[in-house]
Amino acid sequence: MSVEHAGAAAPHDHGRAPGARHATGYDDATRARLTADAQEIVARYPQARSALLPMLHLVQSEDGYVSPRGIAFCASVLGISTAEVSAVATFYTQYKRHPNGTYTVGVCTNTLCAVMGGDAIWEELSEHLGIGHDETTPDGAITLERVECNAACDYAPVVMVNWEFFDNQTPASAVDVVDRLAAGEAVAPTRGASSVCTFKEMSRVLAGFPDGRADEGVGAGEPTVRGTRLARERGWTAPSYDAAERAAATATATHGVPAAGEEQSSADRPVTAPADVSPAGEQRKQKSDDAKES
Ligand code: FES
Repeated sequence: MSVEHAGAAAPHDHGRAPGARHATGYDDATRARLTADAQEIVARYPQARSALLPMLHLVQSEDGYVSPRGIAFCASVLGISTAEVSAVATFYTQYKRHPNGTYTVGVCTNTLCAVMGGDAIWEELSEHLGIGHDETTPDGAITLERVECNAACDYAPVVMVNWEFFDNQTPASAVDVVDRLAAGEAVAPTRGASSVCTFKEMSRVLAGFPDGRADEGVGAGEPTVRGTRLARERGWTAPSYDAAERAAATATATHGVPAAGEEQSSADRPVTAPADVSPAGEQRKQKSDDAKES
């Protein structure tokens, strides 16, 4: 029996010898610590299953990837199946299905970064490290990835290390970064925090446990704010959009349906129309009505 199945079948395993490993694979002390963290995460949501995304980051902060025992732990805590946990974990690229390196080095090869040199950086790093996309160096230091736009196009080409920015990179500067990371040196990104943390440390932050460094360094640098600064200097403003126009537009768009967050909004009002279930249901009803009228 796999640990996933063992964990799902016996989430509350009592009567084990002291120090014995739990059915999900975590020893008692680790499981107790993770359970305390999980309870804190789950308490943030009205339904336990809504806590799955940060729970998966919590698992990665412990195991360095979404492990089988981590999947079983999530399922057990949240009262869902291991299949449901796996379905989510395999959908998002931030969740790793095999042990990740200490540092995820993501080279942006989306359009702008690619033409500004991202493709050349990728080729250089892949050859230098001897690994391809989503592969890890034998020493476990670096996992290399192609990544999509990181909303830092004004600093293209961009490399991310555990989601910290390395702006305006070149093949040579990117090789220097990975060599220093692999050598265990402290490496500072070009913006943001004063140093790069490990994949496990980053995962704990993504699980919702701040490390207190969110405000370190510069977030939006000169290229990002240049447009705003020019607009202020030259007195440029966006066209006005007064409250009456906004209210009229909202009323037209919603046809009297309560706005999100208001009483009887879609979050809690009873189902009254096919569209409440799915747009496809509404389309089927419309076709049916049309057929009756013809
Ligand atoms: S295209 Fe690379 S950050 Fe946007």
